Amino acid sequence: MMIHHRQVVVFCSYAQLHNSAKNVLYHLADISDASTIKPEWQGAFSKVVCLFVLHWIRDKVSALKVLHSCLKVGGEILLVCPTDKTKVYRSQVLMASHPKWGPYAKDFVASILMPWPSRDLANQSHSSHLLEESGFDVIACHVGNYQYSFDSRDQLRDYLRLISPYLCSIPEDKQEEFLQDLEKMAQDCHVIAGDELLTRNDDYLVLRARKL
Ligand SMILES: C[S@@+](CC[C@H](N)C(=O)[O-])C[C@H]1O[C@@H](n2cnc3c(N)ncnc32)[C@H](O)[C@@H]1O
Repeated sequence: MMIHHRQVVVFCSYAQLHNSAKNVLYHLADISDASTIKPEWQGAFSKVVCLFVLHWIRDKVSALKVLHSCLKVGGEILLVCPTDKTKVYRSQVLMASHPKWGPYAKDFVASILMPWPSRDLANQSHSSHLLEESGFDVIACHVGNYQYSFDSRDQLRDYLRLISPYLCSIPEDKQEEFLQDLEKMAQDCHVIAGDELLTRNDDYLVLRARKL
């Protein structure tokens, strides 16, 4: 279901070939597995940017400790992640109990999607216990609303495919029907709105923290 190791290696080689720069290096590591972190990365970075990654990670504190270990003292992390209140996640939870699509979606939603728990956000969502437990000093933390307009319905369809990797397990002759139902669900959950200009609108956690 998740991107396979082999595919990520291919992405890395592609990036190295087509998007190289003297000051950019591409490496592969698994933040759930500290043994994949090279010793020379420890305490080596002044910034970590972690966008839309931690909702794949069950043990967030261990992963955050791995990222923390790579920062210099005073270095900062910028993190963006869906929460359990993010509308697109809510729409996938509803797909998991859908009479037609539940059998395909439920394993993905139950065991692979792990949004940031909103109960972690203390002090009216301005602080995070998970970050503090991982050794960070939280500088800023809020749940913000973000909007994105699709250029076309095809682009919306690409987005719906992207958020439903279990689509490949649905028989090909039913995939169009699935995408129509998912689009309807996304509209019902207010993930997307509009007729002419289709706009995606959702709330995500944005965190900035410093290594003490
Ligand atoms: C939705 S993509 C976001 C990509 C990019 N950060 C962005 O914002 O466009 C999720 C990324 O999380 C990465 N990812 C998922 N699990 C991971 C793990 N255990 N360790 C490192 N990266 C992981 C995937 O390889 C993928 O690149």
